[in-house]
Amino acid sequence: MGALQKRKVAIIGAGGVANGHANGYLEHQDKIDLSAVCDVAYEKADEFAQRYAIPAVYADVEDMLAEQKPDLVSICTPPATHTELCIQCMEAGSWVLCEKPLCGSLADLDQIVDSEKQTGCYTVSVFQWRFGSAAQHLKTMFDQGALGKAFSGVCNTTWYRSEKYYQVPWRGTWKDELGGVTMGQGIHLIDLFLWIFGDWSEIKAMTATLAHDIEVEDVSAALVRFRNNAVGTILNSVACPRQETYLRLDFERATVEMNGLYRASNENWSVSTGELDDEICAETSARWQSLTSDVTGGHPSQIRSLLSDMDEGRRPTTTGPGIRNTLEFLSALYKSAFTNEIVRAGSIVPGDPYYAAIHGGADTEGKACSR
Ligand SMILES: NC(=O)c1ccc[n+]([C@@H]2O[C@H](COP(=O)([O-])OP(=O)(O)OC[C@H]3O[C@@H](n4cnc5c(N)ncnc54)[C@H](O)[C@@H]3O)[C@@H](O)[C@H]2O)c1
Repeated sequence: MGALQKRKVAIIGAGGVANGHANGYLEHQDKIDLSAVCDVAYEKADEFAQRYAIPAVYADVEDMLAEQKPDLVSICTPPATHTELCIQCMEAGSWVLCEKPLCGSLADLDQIVDSEKQTGCYTVSVFQWRFGSAAQHLKTMFDQGALGKAFSGVCNTTWYRSEKYYQVPWRGTWKDELGGVTMGQGIHLIDLFLWIFGDWSEIKAMTATLAHDIEVEDVSAALVRFRNNAVGTILNSVACPRQETYLRLDFERATVEMNGLYRASNENWSVSTGELDDEICAETSARWQSLTSDVTGGHPSQIRSLLSDMDEGRRPTTTGPGIRNTLEFLSALYKSAFTNEIVRAGSIVPGDPYYAAIHGGADTEGKACSR
């Protein structure tokens, strides 16, 4: 693509996270023009447009798509609006970068994938943690056998959210947020964990609402077994006064840890070989240290990857098949918690209530998540 053929990008939803998208796009001004912003609250879109020098402002998505014909649209609206907006944008001929959680069920994911087939466009889920240089390097090392077998993992998203945080009307509800800490906060590290270790095979989980006056869970925990036989524990909470995002992965040839909060660059990752043979220690350390770039896992790095996929016309990794393992896991986590059963991969299919809705159609006005 020549310098004069920059891609047109639009943002829908001009709230908090849209700033991450705008700043991410501003790092790629050689390739894109941030040409429009749209928000049902026009004044928010207008103020956002002034902040980032965006020329066109809309309150109506249909008008924006018809007039702007963007190549790429970032969807930064509350979760329950995502599926419909993704499909609407693809039908208008735009690729989509949609905030997490992409959608509220496997049924919705299948609808999005059907729309991809019909339109030839792709909807990319924001999973920015995958795009840090250390995460990419680790994944390559594991996939190429440099770390040996995976044995166990610990995946802790232990954050804090005040009552004020939940005063935003869409938060803390099944209908609008599509879940609690699992879908809203834990989803990032869960996705990173599953992406590295691969397909999961079974899960046993529990959820609870302990610290906030909300209908969704603010704590969840799960035991997971992977198809490669590794096992793991997952803890998600927004009731932790000292916050941390911690991933520990034990492989045959190293313990790999990531310790940070909302983002990670190389310095947040460490590799230890402990008491292993000198030869293994030397090989693993040398391979890990062959990482030369230092890229933070964030919106700019995911956007860079997406723009290069657009240039190549190839399916981005965080679309349909590349994210199903995570979305099926999230559905299974709620199903296991609410039914008190072990849930196996592949078992949530059309006809299962947890295929149609992440909460399985449970009493969303009540305390379904505390059962
Ligand atoms: N990836 C991350 O690290 C990260 C961080 C924060 C939030 N998020 C996600 O981003 C999304 C938005 O979160 P936020 O905190 O920015 O929310 P927000 O409430 O600050 O902003 C959402 C905006 O969308 C607008 N909106 C709502 N429905 C719309 C529609 N149908 N069409 C156009 N505009 C509409 C609202 O008026 C509002 O301005 C959520 O899915 C959230 O989970 C992701």
